[in-house]
Amino acid sequence: MRTVFWENNELKMIDQRILPARFEILAYRGHKEVALAITDMVVRGAPAIGAAAAFGLALAGYESASSSTSGLLADLLAASTTLKAARPTAVNLAWAVDRVLRVAYSVNSSADDLRAVVLSEAQKLADEDVEINKRMAEHGATLINDGDTIIHHCNTGALATVDWGTALGVIRTAHEQGKKIHVFVDETRPRLQGARLTAWELEQYGIPYEIISDNTAGYFLKAGKVQKCFVGSDRTAANGDVANKIGTYMLALAAFDNGIPFYPVVPTSTIDLSLAHGDLIPIEERNPQEVLGLEFEGQRVAPQNAKARNIAFDVTPNRLVTGIVTENGVAYPPFEVSLKKLVKNKP
Ligand code: MRU
Repeated sequence: MRTVFWENNELKMIDQRILPARFEILAYRGHKEVALAITDMVVRGAPAIGAAAAFGLALAGYESASSSTSGLLADLLAASTTLKAARPTAVNLAWAVDRVLRVAYSVNSSADDLRAVVLSEAQKLADEDVEINKRMAEHGATLINDGDTIIHHCNTGALATVDWGTALGVIRTAHEQGKKIHVFVDETRPRLQGARLTAWELEQYGIPYEIISDNTAGYFLKAGKVQKCFVGSDRTAANGDVANKIGTYMLALAAFDNGIPFYPVVPTSTIDLSLAHGDLIPIEERNPQEVLGLEFEGQRVAPQNAKARNIAFDVTPNRLVTGIVTENGVAYPPFEVSLKKLVKNKP
């Protein structure tokens, strides 16, 4: 089962807002609805939103009433702006939309043929995502030893991608290789992608895990109970600064202070060589309701008039990063040099 897939002229996506309580697949026929689904986090995770947006562009092609190629291209361009604005931090979103758009502009065909070309490129991108994740997982699994306990943040599994996953894909591959591993799952406030989605995936793969509140990671790292940290990334700058789910930076600091290796697992589509360092990465701030709406024992936690800040991502500076796993191999410092080498074949 894929997280994002095309079936019967519709884009279908697992609704990640309601897992694990309910498993539902939603169908989309319009690109504006896809953009909303990305903003609302029906679909989330950098590679998954890239694939969703690529298929969203295919939907825009079929929505367009234009019979001329130039008219259709203009409609695709307008749709690409809507899709790219859905979330700011994950560079995969703009990368995927721009890749499909580039192909659309490069072919010389009738409007009808062009619609099929756009869909076929979106499908190709989605298929490649699975293949890339499996390659990344092979490289990453070499870093995991039999008996390791790993801390993982957010959800980076099949749900965050088209299938298989990034950091969780590495963990899954190590498990399938027969390595005995244990995972501490950061619950990942405020949307609890760890406690809800990562735990749900690990259950299905039969990988032993325990959920920990995010602020417990430091305790276990200091106590010598963890051998490695694996996380994903929504955008990695040219110098190896890594933007990922809020809380990743604190985890990396605690790992560094205790000499525990910290590995982001990052497809090259997530590496943004146009940004020299992580301070240039746009950071999403979401609706404070996601923080304020949390309940404890059936009661809202915060007072009715409380205010909150809901920063969705933070940037871990490269000095805290041991190595960056990509589908083309593992990059080590100096990342300015090693990342550039590994990114060279990016489509
Ligand atoms: O806000 P989310 O749930 O989309 O954030 C997801 C992450 O932070 C992941 O770690 C990241 O997308 C990379 S893993 C595929």
